[in-house]
This record gives sequence, C-alpha cells and structure tokens, in this order.
Amino acid sequence: MRQRYNIIELDTVDSTNDEAKRKLAGVGHLTVITAKYQTRGRGQRGNEWKSREGENLLFSVVLKYAESSLQMPASSQLALSGMVALSVVDMLESLNVQAKIKWPNDIYVGERKVCGVLIENSVCGKYLSTSIVGVGINVNQTEFDEDIPNPVSIAQCIGRNISTEKVLTLFLNAFEDYLDHFASGEIDYERLCGLYVRRMLPWSAPENFLEKTLSLGKL
Ligand code: BTN
Repeated sequence: MRQRYNIIELDTVDSTNDEAKRKLAGVGHLTVITAKYQTRGRGQRGNEWKSREGENLLFSVVLKYAESSLQMPASSQLALSGMVALSVVDMLESLNVQAKIKWPNDIYVGERKVCGVLIENSVCGKYLSTSIVGVGINVNQTEFDEDIPNPVSIAQCIGRNISTEKVLTLFLNAFEDYLDHFASGEIDYERLCGLYVRRMLPWSAPENFLEKTLSLGKL
C-alpha cells in the first residue's frame, strides 16, 4: 500500500460514507474508512447496499482538494467518477477479469454488477471542496439476496477467493495514479473522458453523452 493513504479499519458501521462525513473535519486528504459490515449501507437513488459481513469490500475515500494539488471544477464531476470507475476496471483487469462501466460508475462483468460507487461532493464556488468516494465491491460473496439485481463477485469470476486487502490495495494504487496524472495534467479531462468512453457500455449513456464526449476529440 502506498504511504499517502491513512486507513481507518472498522468492523461494523452504519455506512462508511456516513462515518466519513462525521469524521470529515478531523481527517486528512486520502483518508480511507473501511468496514467489514454496514448496518445502513447506502446505494444510489436512495437504495440500500447489502453486503454479507466480512465477505466484500466496503470503503470510502475522503478527498480534500485544498490539501492536495488537485483542482476539480464542479462542472467536471465526471472526471472524478471516471477515475474511480477506471480504477475499478484496471484493478479487475489486473486480476484477469474484463469489466465495463455502466454509466456513470457501476461496474459490470458481462451483464452482472460487481461494484457500485456512491460519490458525495461538497462544492465551494466553482470547485469541489471535498468528495467522499464510497465503493462497494463484491469480492468473496457467492450467494446474494434475491432482490439484488444481477450481482456477481470477483470470486465467482476468477473461481477462487481473494483477500479483500489485496483488492483494496490494487484499487487504491490505481486510483492514486489517476489522481496524480490528473493533477499533473498528464491526463487531462478530454483524455480521461476518452478512456472512460472506451470502457463504457454504450447503451448506458444518457442521450447525447457520446456525441458530446466524442466531440472533445482526443480519443
Ligand atoms: C450503488 O451502486 O447503488 C452504489 C453503492 C455504493 C456502496 C458503497 S459501500 C461503501 C460506501 N458506503 C455506503 O453506504 N455506500 C458506499
């Protein structure tokens, strides 16, 4: 694991995103809160995120832009979404699992969802001031509640269990690289959109998204 992350490991919490919000004033940029179990895991659109205790990866990364060299215009929130989604896809690829992004940042293997992301931002003027990046990755769970639509885990994809710590390390290293490359300008917004679009399920994009993004030109 890279040294820049500060990892807080919890057994049970309501939601790692909610815990990150409560701790926000007292923690620094790149703090990561993990939990083995969430009692009120939150998904997009007010849905619940259910995950069996200890079987999967549940974590939130705190980004505090004033403490970093990153500047994130509020108008380019897709950049952050994109970096998170691409980091998950890269992590999976390093485990020989081919995955795609369902807009904006669900990660699918074939027609089944392996990871969901809930990003909560606060804005100051034209820029984001903080982001809480909540990520739930199905790692070793093989039986899911019937009301979860089309779930799959990494273990089901690779045919064996894998440590959640390893998956977290692979993700965090990939994510840090994207953040660094974006902060240094090595990957600009257009290039990021290009990388994102290439790994996106085209049918999942909102109307005109592809046209707008493709017109950015650096694919
Ligand atoms: C979704 O696909 O609906 C988004 C799911 C996000 C779940 C993760 S698990 C860790 C973090 N804490 C939460 O309460 N939610 C996110």
